[in-house]
Amino acid sequence: MTTQPHGSPAEQIEVDWSWTSSDDGWIPPDIDASKPSAARMYDYAIGGKDNYEVDRRAVHEVAGLVPDFRACALANRGFLIRAGHALAELGIDQFIDLGSGIPTSPNVHEVAQVFQPDARVVYVDNDPIVMTYNRALREPGPGVLALNHDLRRPHSLIDDSKLRNHLDLDRPVGLLMVAVLHFVRREIAVKVLEQYRKLLPEGSYLAVSVVCADGTEPAVIERLEQVFQASSTPFVARSTAQVEQLFDGSELIEPGLVDVTQWRNPGQPLPIRMLSGVARIS
Ligand SMILES: C[S@@+](CC[C@H](N)C(=O)[O-])C[C@H]1O[C@@H](n2cnc3c(N)ncnc32)[C@H](O)[C@@H]1O
Repeated sequence: MTTQPHGSPAEQIEVDWSWTSSDDGWIPPDIDASKPSAARMYDYAIGGKDNYEVDRRAVHEVAGLVPDFRACALANRGFLIRAGHALAELGIDQFIDLGSGIPTSPNVHEVAQVFQPDARVVYVDNDPIVMTYNRALREPGPGVLALNHDLRRPHSLIDDSKLRNHLDLDRPVGLLMVAVLHFVRREIAVKVLEQYRKLLPEGSYLAVSVVCADGTEPAVIERLEQVFQASSTPFVARSTAQVEQLFDGSELIEPGLVDVTQWRNPGQPLPIRMLSGVARIS
């Protein structure tokens, strides 16, 4: 697990080396370490150690073209933290974190509980390694539930009795889809979001960050597509208009749809452009 200073999107990170290394020779039986995984690559990129050689090699392939790849990943975490704080300040005290990734501190429940001490969070991912770490590291936390689901099946997730016992779906929810939709085909993502909008209570919020092809060098997009082709989660790039489409049926709050570095932050654009926004589902 990595630890990051609050509100610090990039550069310095502190790594919590106390957690067991994935390279200690033992690989859990349900983990496929023969091909890279988005969760483990991202973990490596932000300074974690829950990854394998195959993941590190894949990250280096991207970093060969984008030396500050790590800064891009950390800038995304910065958005996640600021969006979580903003939603908690708006009174949201229950969250569904779709594509939660390997635990990284501060986790969403830690961010939300700064403003909402009783906040409840459901972490969702479909990568078995994430579930292993979610259960070990996040679930012992107060108000936390970890579920193994594919976000592309909103009904199956929202109807899960464990989720329904954990959250009160008569009250607004913060739905987080941070750095995950570029692993979901464009037309599927639009339909999936439409379903979540219908399934979640009025007044719920959506927070999204996603890679945008406009503003990213075509060679970088091509490299991302190649690298992720070998993984279990092929990469999909979107134009600005295609990112805007993800927010159809919801109302963006200030500052609208902007680079992750610039969402309520005075940051500079980065070589992998990630657009981000937080919107009220109407
Ligand atoms: C790049 S990580 C992002 C982690 C975290 N949201 C963040 O921004 O720090 C993307 C995560 O999405 C997960 N993921 C990809 N496709 C998914 C799907 N269809 N359903 C659930 N999780 C998915 C991956 O396993 C990975 O853990």
